[in-house]
Amino acid sequence: MLTIHPILITLLPSLITAHPSSKKTPLNSNGIPPFSSLPLGEGNPYLSAWGLYGPKDELGTLNRLSPAIVAAASKSEIKTGVRVSLNWAMNAQGNESFINRGSFGHKIYPAGPYYDEIWDYNSQLSSHWDSLRHFPYVAERRFYNGVRDEDVVGKGNSTVNGIHVWSEKGIVGRGVLVDFESWRLKQLEKKNPEERFRRFDPFKGETSGISLEDVRAVLKWQGTKVRFGDILIVRSGWTVGFNNKTREEILALQRSGPISASGLEQSLPMMKFLWENFAAVAGDMPGVEANPSRSNFTMHEVLLAGWGCPMGELFDLEALAEEAKRQKRWSFFLTSEVINLPGALASPINALAIF
Ligand SMILES: *[C@@H]1O[C@H](CO)[C@@H](O)[C@H](O)[C@H]1NC(C)=O
Ligand SMILES: *[C@@H]1O[C@H](CO)[C@@H](O)[C@H](O)[C@H]1NC(C)=O
Ligand SMILES: *[C@@H]1O[C@H](CO)[C@@H](O)[C@H](O)[C@H]1NC(C)=O
Ligand SMILES: *[C@@H]1O[C@H](CO)[C@@H](O)[C@H](O)[C@H]1NC(C)=O
Repeated sequence: MLTIHPILITLLPSLITAHPSSKKTPLNSNGIPPFSSLPLGEGNPYLSAWGLYGPKDELGTLNRLSPAIVAAASKSEIKTGVRVSLNWAMNAQGNESFINRGSFGHKIYPAGPYYDEIWDYNSQLSSHWDSLRHFPYVAERRFYNGVRDEDVVGKGNSTVNGIHVWSEKGIVGRGVLVDFESWRLKQLEKKNPEERFRRFDPFKGETSGISLEDVRAVLKWQGTKVRFGDILIVRSGWTVGFNNKTREEILALQRSGPISASGLEQSLPMMKFLWENFAAVAGDMPGVEANPSRSNFTMHEVLLAGWGCPMGELFDLEALAEEAKRQKRWSFFLTSEVINLPGALASPINALAIF
């Protein structure tokens, strides 16, 4: 349930100008404005879609997960009843994380005749969804639908754009795995493979981007068709790389400077593809997108702050990739329920793929 908090009243002027109703935008057959019409509101940030679902919307592209789309996904995808978890262990990164988010604090203590425990951790540490109050348009300092810094960390404890709003219905629908890592290894078996496939290193974002052409080639190789409202899940090979490194190698990389990681490339064709198809975007890598960005914007700005599109990071896709290969099917029913913590910035994914 949403209640109008006093802080929202001070917000209203900016939210009202965020509404694009003054500009009549034609919707396509899926009920969304064409990519070419972004940003929707005059003077609004790059490619943003503020106001599409009203000035106070906090669901963003999750609005695409209509009951009809979820019901259709359950009918087309649940065939065998095989379930696969996508949750990396909460403490998988050990006592010091590669992504500089500390470690998972877990204390068990006697509480009389039984035991209790305390968890203490950064919500970015293991598999998680980023919420709409995690990442703003950096230059403009604006979050989804125009929300400001003071609404995230200011007095009054506003919970606007918090992840609890997503917990009301979860992130549920048709998941599509793009198994880039398996496809890349297949390319290496060819006679004269492109050098970039050999050099691909999930810890070198500068040279290891995944382009839209790559994504399309993987989908074609798998025989996977994308449908409107899908949840895109990309296996870049980051988990494989992480598991193949010693503790010393991981920590040496962490200490060598800013995080570098493989991921989706920030190109306009890629953004158009994401806009036209998906309700949420996730992967096994720390940031979904290639890091550092190879463009003048980050996907975090456009997806989270512009469209309200959940970004899922550090998913464990190893068992999922195995099952998809076994069933020769890279689509499945996905259910993910975020935690109900009002105002939270991210959440564990509690995700299951059901084939
Ligand atoms: C993590 O554990 C290793 C091995 O026990 C230890 O040498 C290191 O100091 C620990 N690091 C932190 C940050 O606690
Ligand atoms: C809530 O507001 C108080 C007072 O401004 C502040 O000290 C506290 O950190 C806020 N809590 C959260 C979770 O932001
Ligand atoms: C694992 O690491 C070794 C040594 O760095 C490397 O030669 C090998 O190619 C890696 N394997 C995979 C699957 O990444
Ligand atoms: C990025 O560059 C393109 C092309 O020069 C430009 O149209 C766009 O406005 C720029 N975006 C940002 C966020 O600066």
